[in-house]
Amino acid sequence: MTVPSVTYILRRLAQVITCEAGPYAGRVTPERLGIVEQGSIVVHRGRIAWVGPDRDLSAEWLRQDTVELDLSGHIALPGLIDPHTHLIYGGDRLNDWMERLRGRTYLEIAVQGGGIWKTVQDTRATPDEELKRLLELRLDRLFAFGVTTVEVKSGYGLSEAEEIRLLRCLQQVQATHPIGVMPTFLGAHAYPRDMDRAAYLDVLVQRLLPEVIRQGLSLSIDVFCDTGAFTVEETLYLLTIARQQGFVAIHLHADEMSPTGLLEAIDDWKNIYSVDHLNHMDARMARVLAETGVAAVLLPTTCFHLRLPTPPIQALLEAGVVVAIGSDHNPGTHPGLNPWYVFWLACVGWNLPVEQVLAGMTVQAAYGLRIHGQTGRIAPGLRADLVVVDVPHYGYLLYQWDSLPVRWVFKNGRPYQIRETAEIRYTWMSHEE
Ligand code: NIG
Ligand code: FE
Repeated sequence: MTVPSVTYILRRLAQVITCEAGPYAGRVTPERLGIVEQGSIVVHRGRIAWVGPDRDLSAEWLRQDTVELDLSGHIALPGLIDPHTHLIYGGDRLNDWMERLRGRTYLEIAVQGGGIWKTVQDTRATPDEELKRLLELRLDRLFAFGVTTVEVKSGYGLSEAEEIRLLRCLQQVQATHPIGVMPTFLGAHAYPRDMDRAAYLDVLVQRLLPEVIRQGLSLSIDVFCDTGAFTVEETLYLLTIARQQGFVAIHLHADEMSPTGLLEAIDDWKNIYSVDHLNHMDARMARVLAETGVAAVLLPTTCFHLRLPTPPIQALLEAGVVVAIGSDHNPGTHPGLNPWYVFWLACVGWNLPVEQVLAGMTVQAAYGLRIHGQTGRIAPGLRADLVVVDVPHYGYLLYQWDSLPVRWVFKNGRPYQIRETAEIRYTWMSHEE
């Protein structure tokens, strides 16, 4: 997309949450959040050119060809970044959800015809056009809620052709949707039921890893290491091959459903950007994550919806780990799309201060994807990805999460006005004509 030629000046914001000192190792206090009261932001050629108190805004900017928005009573924060989703799939898992509420566990349901394999069958039966339409609808919702970058994993194809198809559909949608999509190859999400384990492992290693790279579909990989999914040995083997094939970003589903010993077994932390879930993580491993600079991506929805143990959050913060928060949107454990609900759960469910959570869904999440040099903060030179909400203090974002008046989403310096209609949509307001 072209860079807008118009300069936008967002003026008189009650607060600008800059996250300028992030990514943050450990705890995030209000002082570390970088809050500018009565602030202004200059957005020029797709980037943030200036941010500071309105009274310090240089008259130079006002003399240029600018569009000025008076945003008194509103706040601005970095565009939200969702570092962990499974957004591309067909069908749903209503039955699993209702069964769980009757007391059956995720694993029991998976063995009895639900679980990931159910979604794989639904996804395989969904034609490309429909798959892309469903994905676009989900991305539209996220965008209108203020998400400007989202990581999306494959993983509901589980065959050579189907995993490639998912990544291709993803790439096509990515090319046209305003939201930033970062694809991750999760062919190692589960073993398909129509092939034996050794044969599928072979498909992954011999066919899929090289093809994903060769076709330029993703440089990022994830493995679901858990009971009923991939073992620690298989995971380490896949990572070795993935690195050889040229994958540069590694994310791991680690210690989610059960304690696997995966973290303890990793010798080589190179390219491991984040370890995710961590519900059964041994708190003593926090030190290793801090030392190696690996982000911990915590996923409150899955934790509460599956009644999993709380990850060792205090140990992670104490050790100085960069703690991010993601939605884990997927049909099985969290079908919702409102990111503010996810963050609210982190606050009330885990007793995390609002500042910790706000950083977790912006700059910390950017770090989990290693894009913190480009986005996730409101600082000069960075991409102008930001959200404007009609509340006078950042605390309201989580206090009244279910009815947030998000008014503008800027993506790469382009303003989208969010309107509250029955169908939440966005319109690009072009001021260039
Ligand atoms: O992150 N852990 C594996 N993947 C998802 C669940 C996927 C599914 O049940 O469809 C998760 O929780
Ligand atoms: Fe997940």
